[in-house]
Amino acid sequence: MKKIRKAIIPAAGLGTRFLPVTKGLPKEMLPIIDIPTVQYIIEEAIDSGIEEILIIDNVDKTIIHKYFSVDEKLENKLLETNKKDEYDLVHHIGTMCKISYVQQNDPKGLGHAVSLAEEFVGDEPFAILLGDDLMSNVGGTPVLKQMIDAYDKVGSSILGVQEVAREVVHKYGVVKPVSIDGRLIKISDFVEKPKTEEAPSCYAGLGRYILTPKIFELLKTQTPGKGGEIQLTDSIKRLMDIEGVYAYDFEGTRYDVGDKFGFVKAIIDFSLRRDELKDKVQEYINSLVK
Ligand code: UTP
Repeated sequence: MKKIRKAIIPAAGLGTRFLPVTKGLPKEMLPIIDIPTVQYIIEEAIDSGIEEILIIDNVDKTIIHKYFSVDEKLENKLLETNKKDEYDLVHHIGTMCKISYVQQNDPKGLGHAVSLAEEFVGDEPFAILLGDDLMSNVGGTPVLKQMIDAYDKVGSSILGVQEVAREVVHKYGVVKPVSIDGRLIKISDFVEKPKTEEAPSCYAGLGRYILTPKIFELLKTQTPGKGGEIQLTDSIKRLMDIEGVYAYDFEGTRYDVGDKFGFVKAIIDFSLRRDELKDKVQEYINSLVK
């Protein structure tokens, strides 16, 4: 069985839920205090054993590419001014992983974005981490690593899921479970944004996937689905007719940074974990509650 070594991060969406800032800044670059969301996502991938990353950006999002490149001018300036800690911080970002880029200049949907990764992925199973889904599992195993460990047991495609409230299932891709073994769920259907009464469960796909390369064949013939977009969900559904597909109910918290309230929650939670901030933030929150 081939090891999961490669990951793709789709980051070419319009970010309409976060306008107007996304007119000038990709939502994947929205900072959780001082670190862009996509950096946390790359760190999760590296901590899960990923060796190579492909970011799907577009002509207006080259700022992501620039951020993860070595900036010799800035590095030299920091060294000249004896700012060693800042130099280390900046140098680390430019060298943390082997990252390549492909552009999706017309956002035709997540399935279309993923199809652009075929050459990068080749004939290997691979991971997808959505560029606006931030995961945190403090003191535990990174979310993607939990899924890779599950893949090593079953050798099949796996969707990262968690249970959500029934009132919000219409916002997600929702799986139909056949059998449940601990956190691993064998599934028989994956429905994009179902009506509440038609949802096959409350297990929603939350931005992490492990897929076999078979998905690329299916994406080539995928017709537009919900919203006129090429939906990854539709091809995963077809994949189930050919291969077994599982869901994994991962341990950890997921923040939808592309949603305003999800972003606010991430800022609050992450600031309460930072030594230099937590007391001040907690005190401030307490003062508001009074
Ligand atoms: P979303 O549906 O959350 O992104 O896609 P969006 O379309 O940018 O969001 P809104 O609804 O307009 O606010 C999930 C991920 O897939 C990427 C997005 O960048 C995001 O990280 N994506 C989506 C693409 O790369 N290309 C697409 O065509 C669509």
